[in-house]
Order: sequence, then structure tokens, then C-alpha cells
Amino acid sequence: MKVLITGKNGQVGSCLVSQLSNMTEINFLALSREELDITNAEQVSKIVNEYKPSVIINAGAYTAVDKAESEVELANAINNLGPKNLAKAAEKVNAAIIHISTDYVFAGNKEGLYTETDEVNPQGVYGQTKLAGEQSVAQECDDHIILRTAWVFSEFGNNFVKTMLRLAQTRKTLGVVGDQFGGPTYAGDIAKTIVSIAQQLQQGSTKFGVYNYSGYPHVSWQEFAKEIFAKALSQQEVDTPVTVNAIATSEYQTPAKRPANSKLDCNKIKTNFSIQPSNWKAALNNIQQYK
Ligand SMILES: NC(=O)c1ccc[n+]([C@@H]2O[C@H](COP(=O)([O-])OP(=O)(O)OC[C@H]3O[C@@H](n4cnc5c(N)ncnc54)[C@H](OP(=O)(O)O)[C@@H]3O)[C@@H](O)[C@H]2O)c1
Repeated sequence: MKVLITGKNGQVGSCLVSQLSNMTEINFLALSREELDITNAEQVSKIVNEYKPSVIINAGAYTAVDKAESEVELANAINNLGPKNLAKAAEKVNAAIIHISTDYVFAGNKEGLYTETDEVNPQGVYGQTKLAGEQSVAQECDDHIILRTAWVFSEFGNNFVKTMLRLAQTRKTLGVVGDQFGGPTYAGDIAKTIVSIAQQLQQGSTKFGVYNYSGYPHVSWQEFAKEIFAKALSQQEVDTPVTVNAIATSEYQTPAKRPANSKLDCNKIKTNFSIQPSNWKAALNNIQQYK
């Protein structure tokens, strides 16, 4: 199997590279934004035609949710036109495409868990451009997997776990949003999931389409923060407990509106690909790696 990976320096991209480096049965070419700008249709087409991958994994994205509100064109170019270029190129060389999307395609006002067939209604520019990207990928390449994930953290880049650990160095009390609920997801688990799906597609699976994949159990940001500090304390990464008070979304104003409920139902991926949800608490077991 030959795999082309875009956005190799992002959280998921970095985890993919580190896992695939230990798998001799998979040949891969991982490229950074500088090496392959997915918004450049000509460059995408050239590289895909030359490398002829069997699977393209798009780990490149514009992920600055708040900034997207004022950078609509750039967000759309990266999250919609980029995936469209990749999907078009994939279709031409008979490759499958695995594209990562987000819980922010949902409005967040549903009671209970979101399934893949629930109505989409993104509340901000980031979600809107990610949804447009999903639609472009589905339109341009028949053999597509769209993986919707949520609340991604890892040892790479910037994320909530790293922010909390940094704040713990100087603060003993914090206010964290307690009325938004979702599933924290370890990027290493997303990478594992993507590799497993790619392998199953190579073995003949044709279960293409949209899939939810996130972490269980579902929690609020406040509960997520509490667990991070509990692990940090038990692993002696902080010396004193950090108190985490719940604050309301209305008390923490941000340019982009976020879904109050983005809990994803992950049964479809379990049924079709035998993949279990990310165990995010287990991923925090070595808290040191996020410092
Ligand atoms: N982070 C989350 O909490 C979250 C939640 C739900 C879904 N997701 C989705 O999960 C996926 C992976 O997210 P992540 O957290 O790994 O993102 P990330 O860490 O922000 O990485 C995105 C990568 O894409 C690269 N990129 C940006 N523009 C590009 C372009 N024009 N061509 C090629 N590469 C480009 C970035 O390069 P530079 O660093 O050089 O800009 C960066 O390395 C994304 O599709 C995201 O929408 C993320």
C-alpha cells in the first residue's frame, strides 16, 4: 500500500508519521504545507500523479476556530478547496481518500448523541468550511472516508491538555467552561484508526462514507480539565491540586460560537471497521509527554 499524507506537521499528521515509520508493510510519503500546499490544484495533481498513492490521507486543515471568523477566504481555501483538489486527484488515479472532519458541523442543540445521519448546521465559519470540504470530497471521489472527530489533543502542536498543564504552573484556581459537552480524542488514536481503515480498504472493504470517531466518556471541558489535573497530580507533574470551577459559555466570550453538545455516537465505525472509541483517559496516563 502506498499512502500520501498531507499536513504532516499537524497533530494527526505527526502521529501518522510516527506510527507509519514503524510499519514496514506500508510505504508512505508525508508532506508539510511547504512541500504540498493542498490549495494549489496544479501541485496536488502533479504530486498525486507522480506518486500514485493507493490512499490519500488529508491531515491538513485550517483549525483556528475563532480566527476563521475573520479569515473566511483562507479557511475556505484550506478546508474546502484543498480537500476538493485532493479528492479530484485521488479519483483520477483510483485512490481512496480519507479526510478528517469535525463535530463543529453540528449545531449542538440535540439531546443525546449525534449520529452520522443527523442534520448538519455549523454555527461558525470553521464548521461551515469543514462541512463544505466534506461535501466536496464526497462529490469528487467515490472512494472516500470522512472521519468526524472532536476535541483533539496530542503531544504535538497546541491543544487543551497542553494549555491546562501550562496554566497549572502559575494558577491554582481556574474557570473552565462547564456547559459544553463532547469527547476528547487523542490524535494517536485517530492516526491508528485511519491506518486501520486504510488497511481494511486495501483488503477490499468498500464501506465508504461518513464516520464519527471520538473519545469516550463524554465530558464537559471542566470535567476534562479536572481529569488532566488529577493525572498531573498523581504523576507528580504538579505539586498542589488545581481547583477547576465551572463557568458558563456566556461568561467566556469567543468570536466563534461552539456547539453545546457535540457528543458523537461512534457505533457505525465499530460495526463497519471494528474500531473502538478513543480511550482519552488512558491517553493521559503519561501526562509528561504533553509538557
Ligand atoms: N484540533 C481539534 O480539536 C480538532 C477537532 C475536531 C476536528 N479536527 C480536525 O482534525 C484534523 C486534524 O487536526 P489537527 O488538530 O491535527 O490540526 P493541526 O494540528 O492544526 O494541523 C493542521 C496541519 O495542516 C497544515 N496546513 C494548513 N494549511 C495547509 C495547506 N494549505 N496545505 C497543506 N497543509 C496545510 C498545517 O500546517 P502549518 O502548521 O504550516 O499551518 C498543520 O500542520 C483537521 O481536519 C481538523 O479540522 C480537529
